[in-house]
Amino acid sequence: MRTEHMRINRKSPVTFSAWAALLSAAVLFHAQDATAQSGSFKPGDELRPLYATIDDLAEGKRLAEQSCAACHGLNGISIDRVIPNLAGQRAPYLYLELLAYQAGLRPDTPMTAKVKFLSDDALVKVAAYFASLDPAQPDPAASAPSNFDPIQAGKTASASCAGCHGDVGISKMPGTPSLVALDPQYLTAAMKAYRIGNRKNDLMKSMLTPLSDADISHVALFYALQKPGRAQTPAPGDKDAGKAASASCSGCHGDEGVSSNPNTPSLAGQDAQYIVAALRAYKSGARSDETMKSLASALDEMAIKNMSAYYAALNPQPVNVRKPLSAEEWVARCDRCHGVNGNSINVRFPALAGQNDKYLENVLHAYQNGSRRSPEMSAMAQALGDDDIRNLAAYYSRQKAKAVLFMVVPGK
Ligand code: HEC
Ligand code: HEC
Ligand code: HEC
Ligand code: HEC
Repeated sequence: MRTEHMRINRKSPVTFSAWAALLSAAVLFHAQDATAQSGSFKPGDELRPLYATIDDLAEGKRLAEQSCAACHGLNGISIDRVIPNLAGQRAPYLYLELLAYQAGLRPDTPMTAKVKFLSDDALVKVAAYFASLDPAQPDPAASAPSNFDPIQAGKTASASCAGCHGDVGISKMPGTPSLVALDPQYLTAAMKAYRIGNRKNDLMKSMLTPLSDADISHVALFYALQKPGRAQTPAPGDKDAGKAASASCSGCHGDEGVSSNPNTPSLAGQDAQYIVAALRAYKSGARSDETMKSLASALDEMAIKNMSAYYAALNPQPVNVRKPLSAEEWVARCDRCHGVNGNSINVRFPALAGQNDKYLENVLHAYQNGSRRSPEMSAMAQALGDDDIRNLAAYYSRQKAKAVLFMVVPGK
């Protein structure tokens, strides 16, 4: 048995109180289903398994043998990578999760049926039992985190575009649009429209067909993060006349040609000849967009030319997107709550070190799609991309798990 005391923070953090309130309400609501539920869970009650006696642990073990070992192993190390290891996990966390399954706060899995009819005492004991075991060590079969960099991937995938669109998306070729200073959402939609033929251009279709959806989003991000600059192409026409004529456009494309709507392209610094071609194409219907068709139809050739000169001369601005965090930067954020390398020292927060990678991936997706709820994790998970989730799961599953040392109260 372990000898050192567990560190207990008796002051509940605010967010935890919010969760406890949610849990308490849900427990009350489900009180009829849960056989021995007291119906009033108070913050602080989650610490009960920390005071388990030797006898309690023995009872917890008996229960585990009967009801849990088939999936979680009697040693708390699961039979499958989609099932969480329980050995050495923080006891109050385990107890809270068992209550959450009972209250319907976690997605309905085989687990829900297993714990539905267990008494509160049984949950405390079985949580204490699994927490007292030696944690799993990193699984050599777990996938390794990759040093994947979406921007580098975008740069690589756009190598074949540079000849026309410029190295960093600043066009030098009249008639070819610059791709800098455009929102990734607009760029992604434009590329997909060419690929499926909604936007008709045989050249662009053949250029984009080999790209996967992931390539397309990486390319869009790469261009959006490049330093903006005006297209290095001529812009004949009367800028001042163009400015006056553009009053009706600024509501959508911005006062200075910088749009604040991610689906409406900015026009500042765009190649003039491309703007002319785009407006003509909207007018003729060769490029389909109802809004732009009716607006462009009202423009004569002179107005089109002047407006393109006006927009081409404006300064493009950086897009409001940030470089995605690297795996190390994410880990630093996660470790603030989950402890150094996922070895949590707050007993209400789960340890992640040595946990099964597939399980970690699944729960992060569950937080993301809302089927598992948590005030701390829901917003956090929204910010993660699929690559981040795979990498973080791989990273934590490969960390060495440290048991929290815990005191066992002697039996009566
Ligand atoms: C039929 C297989 C099965 C059995 C039997 C089973 N579990 Fe589970 N358990 C799972 C699966 C699968 C999950 C993950 C479910 C999810 O994603 O919410 C899980 C999740 C858990 C979790 C959440 C762990 C975490 O890190 O959040 C706890 C706690 C748990 N089980 C405890 C138990 C206990 C205690 C028993 C016995 C009373 C038990 N389980 C029986 C399959 C099982
Ligand atoms: C041979 C020259 C050429 C190459 C190579 C090329 N493009 Fe283009 N691209 C064009 C031209 C010309 C247009 C304007 C087509 C139109 O009028 O719809 C265009 C339009 C676009 C647009 C629409 C921009 C907007 O403002 O709506 C995007 C996005 C784009 N290209 C991305 C790419 C990507 C990504 C690649 C590389 C995989 C690529 N292009 C390769 C010439 C090229
Ligand atoms: C109601 C909003 C709205 C107004 C007003 C508007 N636009 Fe647009 N514009 C859009 C949207 C949305 C698109 C993207 C359509 C598409 O996907 O083809 C667009 C596309 C364009 C493009 C193509 C840019 C590119 O990168 O391919 C040009 C050029 C353009 N608009 C010029 C104008 C001009 C000039 C005016 C004023 C006469 C104007 N727009 C008024 C919404 C608007
Ligand atoms: C503000 C504190 C906080 C931060 C920051 C945080 N977490 Fe959590 N995390 C929690 C809490 C609390 C839980 C338990 C929530 C619950 O009951 O569902 C949790 C649960 C989890 C779980 C479920 C573990 C299990 O055994 O089921 C995973 C996986 C997880 N977090 C991963 C992460 C990752 C990856 C990050 C960084 C991107 C992160 N967390 C950042 C507090 C945090």
